[in-house]
Amino acid sequence: MTTFLELGVDQDMVDSLADQGIIEAFPIQEQTIPLALEGQDIIGQAKTGTGKTFGFGLPLLQRVGADPEPGVQALVVVPTRELAVQVYEDLELAAKNRAATVVPIYGGKAYEGQIEQLKDGAQVVVGTPGRLLDLASQRILNLGDVREMVLDEADKMLDLGFLADIEKLFAKTPATRHTMLFSATMPGTIVTLARRFMSKPIHIRASDPDEGVAQANIEHIVYRAHSLDKDEVIGRILQAEGRGKTVVFMRTKRAAAKLQEEMVDRGFNAASVHGDLNQDQRERAMSAFKAGKKDILIATDVAARGIDVDDVTHVINHTVPDDEKTYLHRVGRTGRAGRTGIAVTFVDWDDLHKWALIDKALDFGVPEPVETYSSSPHLYADLNIPEGSKGRLKATPVKERAPRGGSSTRAGDGGSGEERSGGGRKRTRRRTRSANPQGPGRHEAHGHEQHGHDTEGGGEPGAPLLQEPGEGSAPKRRRRRRTGGSGDGGADGSAQ
Ligand SMILES: Nc1ncnc2c1ncn2[C@@H]1O[C@H](COP(=O)(O)OP(=O)(O)OP(=O)(O)O)[C@@H](O)[C@H]1O
Ligand SMILES: [Mg+2]
Repeated sequence: MTTFLELGVDQDMVDSLADQGIIEAFPIQEQTIPLALEGQDIIGQAKTGTGKTFGFGLPLLQRVGADPEPGVQALVVVPTRELAVQVYEDLELAAKNRAATVVPIYGGKAYEGQIEQLKDGAQVVVGTPGRLLDLASQRILNLGDVREMVLDEADKMLDLGFLADIEKLFAKTPATRHTMLFSATMPGTIVTLARRFMSKPIHIRASDPDEGVAQANIEHIVYRAHSLDKDEVIGRILQAEGRGKTVVFMRTKRAAAKLQEEMVDRGFNAASVHGDLNQDQRERAMSAFKAGKKDILIATDVAARGIDVDDVTHVINHTVPDDEKTYLHRVGRTGRAGRTGIAVTFVDWDDLHKWALIDKALDFGVPEPVETYSSSPHLYADLNIPEGSKGRLKATPVKERAPRGGSSTRAGDGGSGEERSGGGRKRTRRRTRSANPQGPGRHEAHGHEQHGHDTEGGGEPGAPLLQEPGEGSAPKRRRRRRTGGSGDGGADGSAQ
């Protein structure tokens, strides 16, 4: 193990990190920091939760200098507002004992504060493409003196949805700049494309080639589940022994809003983050989740990449993600910084083909996951759910309950939750510690993303119509309020 000091990081930043108990470098940091400090262009690839942010953040801050001239000299571009806030906070933390200032620039937020900080001479900018270009075109943000540029979640930033904006941003910066790209996933096509923006980049992969594509700290559990029964299954998983914070990923913002309502109704402490909320609501939800005031976050793919929250023990994929990259990013919200985590994925009958592609790319060997109901004994065993747990913590509020006498009729409390006919059920619980010698890159074959510019992470196919079959049939459901748009039309990729 090497300390940050030994890697050549300035003492004041070493001290700032030490205050957080961060002293020894993680492998990606060990491999990238010395080269980055010398100005080497880098494509840095390491699994989720392994410390990429400081891997680029420390050299970037150090090369800008402890007390630089006023004016933007470093730019970090990220795909979502939530990630902009987080990366900003990480850089702030590292730079707290130096004069250089960091400013977050992202959409859905008032312009005034951001403009003020730029006018005050901030040197390091962390932002989302839409607002960055907006301020650049107004000549409030000058990128002509940028010496350091980073794309975090680089494969996403160079994907079709963002590429045009990223090209524009690059074009506004000097060609002589130092450029670094980081992500957990880096398909070969993106690496090739990336070279256009870089000068003699070195591709660093901080993972053991024998380790496989998926995060080894995460236990991957996959079930074929019925949409009518999913809320009940989730309610039971939420009572698993040792469950800490939990993130549930949904395909659409509409589904996310509905599930939050349902889970709150069942007595759970759930917040949600998706593109139907305004930025204040999104930030309040994230803070409440980070602070532990809410222990369940129901999210669309806006929270799939980069988001780092302590003590996330479980990730649940309510629906199969678009591809294996999204799978890896989503489940990577758990099992971070050396901890372990559990990822549960529900596969609908209709999504079996989609799942089979992901399964193949990740070499899980579970193309046909076991049929699973809220009452399935293997659900309880796999997830350590205490016997007898049901999927709600409190009864339906009195005023909304059917006139006395009736016991629960909710799906999954018995009736529709029963496991169907026996048959040779195979356990598909799966630990992916097994080797996949082919390493990253081989999954490109399926990597045909077609994300719209404003639909981060796969967008909202047919949004108004898209509803989980049966989900609307729960006994009681208050009308959802729409909470207004996010202000900038999601130009920064946060419309989901
Ligand atoms: N050297 C270190 N020692 C201990 N903890 C660290 C170290 N470096 C980073 N961390 C912590 O590890 C966590 C994950 O780091 P980070 O968010 O940078 O991961 P990442 O590789 O960017 O993941 P993702 O691919 O999901 O974006 C953070 O909480 C960070 O503070
Ligand atoms: Mg990251």
